[in-house]
Amino acid sequence: MTILLIGSGGREHAIATALAASPHTTKLFCAPGNGGIANVAECVNIAATDVAGVVDFAESHGVDLVFVASDDPLALGMVDALEKAGIRAFGPRQNAAIIESSKAFSKSFMAKYGIPTAAHATFSDCDAALAYIRERGAPIVVKADGLALGKGVIVAQTVAAAEEAVRSIMLDRRFGESGARVIIEEFMTGREVTVLAFTDGATVVPMLSSQDHKRVFDGDEGPNTGGMGAICPCPLYTETLAAQCVDMIFRPTIDGLRAEGREFRGVIYFEIMLTPQGPRVIEYNARFGDPEAQAVLPMLDTDLVDICNAVVDGRLAELPIRWKSGASCCVVMASEGYPSEYEKGRVISGLDDVPSDITVYHAGTKRDGDGYVTNGGRVLGVTARGDTLKAAIARAYDGVAAIRWDGAHFRRDIGHHALQK
Ligand code: AMP
Ligand code: GLY
Repeated sequence: MTILLIGSGGREHAIATALAASPHTTKLFCAPGNGGIANVAECVNIAATDVAGVVDFAESHGVDLVFVASDDPLALGMVDALEKAGIRAFGPRQNAAIIESSKAFSKSFMAKYGIPTAAHATFSDCDAALAYIRERGAPIVVKADGLALGKGVIVAQTVAAAEEAVRSIMLDRRFGESGARVIIEEFMTGREVTVLAFTDGATVVPMLSSQDHKRVFDGDEGPNTGGMGAICPCPLYTETLAAQCVDMIFRPTIDGLRAEGREFRGVIYFEIMLTPQGPRVIEYNARFGDPEAQAVLPMLDTDLVDICNAVVDGRLAELPIRWKSGASCCVVMASEGYPSEYEKGRVISGLDDVPSDITVYHAGTKRDGDGYVTNGGRVLGVTARGDTLKAAIARAYDGVAAIRWDGAHFRRDIGHHALQK
């Protein structure tokens, strides 16, 4: 099969690696890809958001399957456009991807189907939102409705901070049109776990659980990022919890979407908070997580292309999906200054010294002569597996220790909290 992957981050490098390893794959393209993805796929210079460009390329290059991995093209309806052109595509259509692209939609969907989540109210009027915040008090959570690169959520400890968040989202449009509506949510407490699942719209198959580390500094300090590291599986996610989540969250979500005429095919991402009242959904995403994909996919023991075909053709129920034993850990190495401003173009050294059992996924790199330079906020995801979580963490940090560039930043405590459980 000729496969085209859409995206350019560490998640896409992990997906590309799994697709390239399949005996079904005769040719793998990636648009636009990055310096590391170029080692496993032929990168083509088409933006991930260029729907018409992707359809044209797929048609002219005999592409059998397009894997749409990132949120923007899904929200733009890339899968719908490909299907219209008769090209098979892995990922939800626009009317199902809305569970990520509109928090207002996903909150009212969860309310309608009794799926546990934080109590909320949605506002398109700024004064009404401010009045509601004063009535409710703090702590309280303010969210922009649309996609905001993981930055549109403000957990406000005071009423004043929540009011300020609403004004900056709705009046100053800090996240652009994403701020036409705000969602105000009840503040929940508990540890967080990610569960990704394959679904063909009827069958839902949860993957091994994982856990992201969103804050930029050790000890969960500093601003939120796209994610600074992940472990798989997450020791907090017991079999009892898993069974509860299937009954209370995963099945009702997939069945509810189908009942709404929004059948979801692809990977669905459940971000769950383990609250004292039980598991509750923080949010849905319509795709693999980044960096979760870099920790979860190396644990997958079934051909990813077989899974994609089963999902697209609606026969996921027939395919057993197996996982490796042990655990994995991905440590993200980022540019100095990320998630705010950072410089690009710093020379990365030591990649050849990384032991071969450790995988280095490229998130933001560019080829430069014989080597690589930094080309993004998150630069690399250094991933290792081990018989235990402790061993996986230690091995991932062996890989990190081999790699250097001027100003490289990484957390030193990925997985530590889970180990203390
Ligand atoms: P999100 O972009 O929705 O994943 O939110 C980013 C982070 O904000 C989450 O990982 C949580 O730590 C936090 N958060 C979101 N919603 C709530 C909530 N209702 N209560 C407490 N924390 C929340
Ligand atoms: N790691 C969080 C996300 O992919 O949304």
